[in-house]
Amino acid sequence: MDIIKLNAIDSTNSYLRQLCTTQELQDLTVVMTKLQLNGRGQMGTTWYSEAGKNLTCSVFKAIDGLPLDQSFAVSMVTSLAMIRTLKRFNIPRLRIKWPNDILSENLKICGILIENVTKNYRIEASILGIGLNVNQTFFSDLPQATSLKNITGNIFDLEELLMSIQEDLKFYFNRFKGSSFEAIKLEYEDILFRRGKPSTFRDGSGEQFPGFIKGVDGSGNLIVRLEDDLIQTFGLKEIQLLY
Ligand code: BTN
Repeated sequence: MDIIKLNAIDSTNSYLRQLCTTQELQDLTVVMTKLQLNGRGQMGTTWYSEAGKNLTCSVFKAIDGLPLDQSFAVSMVTSLAMIRTLKRFNIPRLRIKWPNDILSENLKICGILIENVTKNYRIEASILGIGLNVNQTFFSDLPQATSLKNITGNIFDLEELLMSIQEDLKFYFNRFKGSSFEAIKLEYEDILFRRGKPSTFRDGSGEQFPGFIKGVDGSGNLIVRLEDDLIQTFGLKEIQLLY
């Protein structure tokens, strides 16, 4: 599996997206960089990472025509592969915070940004952008963020982590081919942060409300049981989990 190592780039996702339009890439080709000058996060946010301390990489995954309305499968499979890697490195109390933040001990250690290459409403390939906080110890203005070093006290080898991620992505994408969307969804829901626990949310208009996470639907919307046992589903821009 090919690895392209860069010293600095605006964003590994942007670089890989561009690269795959100009040349044919081997499945699971990775671009990693020591420094991102314009790291991108979900919903137009910026991803900050101290130079050389963390894993900032993007993986090219050929997808073989998955209907676009099933794109959440790519997100679930990528999150589950990250959990498998982190378990190998004995990272404790792992959870997926919907849709695809990876938490350890209730704090965020990894963010995932997935961008799809599509044709006729089908996914031909996905760019799996992974920002894993590894050896950085201070996160100013990010009280919910932590790193593998902060959690375990140990320094980790970035390339060793990357090898494991490549292996686990291969494992989970193969597993997805051989099983159903439903089976992957059950596995994802099993490790979903605050599932079945009383939680507080904020909706798009800033209003707070209580509810229980039940799971996700086929499109990746969050299913919440509200007061009076009313069940409602929410898209990414419609809800924020507060605690
Ligand atoms: C999030 O908002 O949680 C997603 C963060 C994703 C960050 C990674 S770092 C490597 C890749 N390149 C980017 O520009 N973003 C992703």
